Amino acid sequence: MEKKILLEENEIPKYWYNILADMPSPIDPPLGPDGKPIAADALTPIFPMEIIKQEMSAQAEIPIPEEVRSYYAYWRPTPLIRATGMERALKTPAKIYFKNESVSPAGSHKPNTSVPQAYYNKLEGIKRLSTETGAGQWGSALAFACKLMNLECTVYMVKVSFQQKPYRASMIRTWGATIWPSPSNQTSVGREFLKKDPDNSGSLGIAISEAAEDAATHEDTHYSLGSVLNHVLLHQTVIGLEAKKQFEKIGEYPDVIIAPCGGGSNLGGISFPFYRDKFAGKNVRIVAVEPKSCPTLTRGEFRYDFGDSAGFTPLMKMFTLGHNYAPPSIHAGGLRYHGDSPIISYLVKNGLMEAISVDQLETFEAALLFAGTEGIIPAPESAHAIRGAIIEALNAKQEGKEKTILFNMSGHGNFDMSAYDDYLAGKLHNYEVTDEEIRQSLSSISSI
Ligand SMILES: Cc1ncc(COP(=O)(O)O)c(C=O)c1O
Repeated sequence: MEKKILLEENEIPKYWYNILADMPSPIDPPLGPDGKPIAADALTPIFPMEIIKQEMSAQAEIPIPEEVRSYYAYWRPTPLIRATGMERALKTPAKIYFKNESVSPAGSHKPNTSVPQAYYNKLEGIKRLSTETGAGQWGSALAFACKLMNLECTVYMVKVSFQQKPYRASMIRTWGATIWPSPSNQTSVGREFLKKDPDNSGSLGIAISEAAEDAATHEDTHYSLGSVLNHVLLHQTVIGLEAKKQFEKIGEYPDVIIAPCGGGSNLGGISFPFYRDKFAGKNVRIVAVEPKSCPTLTRGEFRYDFGDSAGFTPLMKMFTLGHNYAPPSIHAGGLRYHGDSPIISYLVKNGLMEAISVDQLETFEAALLFAGTEGIIPAPESAHAIRGAIIEALNAKQEGKEKTILFNMSGHGNFDMSAYDDYLAGKLHNYEVTDEEIRQSLSSISSI
């Protein structure tokens, strides 16, 4: 039995898989301020045309440009690894595999989309990209991609993460980008939030508003988003396309696929290529894992809402806790988002995807088990998938079943060591939101 299932460089996928082509029914479109489906033209001030086309495309296979494939080769194909150490520790009959996306230069799955996004912007003559970042993984991935493409890059980083992870900020600067803790004084929306509360610790929703304002007010600047939108999930399908090939090589197929879910991009990336088989009748379960402190898919409402706090973005039909929801400061910064990808939301709503939520402490317990048996220290976000995989493996043990589990190791936690220090010192807590908090947050958007 092999520990690592590897592919050759020439097996890097040649196309991205667009799940929209195979959906059982159309998903509800994003809406503009007039309440009508948004037209492509409305997005041109912030996105390049190729990205807008991908966002709206119904073509199943979208070719990956050769230049993008040549950059993917810096770290792709990523290994599929059998978690033999964890299987032994859990004494489970289940086979556990993980796709190791932590081997990219930025340390996560995020460069799978930052590279093509920077590439298409460069082709259109754009000089600078602006973006938000929660945990710092996305900001560093975009800084890296902009450096490769010779673009300037401005990152608005959620203030609490900026303070928790100073070395993520150093990494972003090392790749030549400018970084501001958000809310910042750089934008009118940032100044507005600071006026209301000078100690505002920030949220992804506010940082998105700042980055979007920056792009909309500068001619040479576009905006780049690290999750949620269709084109981002599309780019991430290289994960699942490779994984399918790797399972083919060993003559196996997963019974269940698990990933952490913030905006849904790594989850969509690993699972969508398997939906091609699922839609054709194959029995494969897909499970999203989210934090109990930000339970969008498990306790949010499926309705139209804005993607950011200031209401700059189009309205999207998704599971949401309300765009003003301020999640507690848990360490999985990338999972602190009030909404979710409309595609992921549709799949959950229609019973095609399961969703569970887990506590912060059980997540870190899972992370330590994984670090101690497989060696890699996972990002707190990725540890949610590890907890999900442990739940499945222990169920298999109880049922005496030999099932095959695949989870996405979306990133390493080498810049999250203060979170590990706090966990080891017994300083971390569980945060479960109350029904009343969710009701209040949702009632504040009831007029939309
Ligand atoms: C390592 C890692 N995993 C998962 C996520 C969640 O994002 P998404 O749901 O878009 O994959 C993030 C977001 O920052 C991340 O950094």
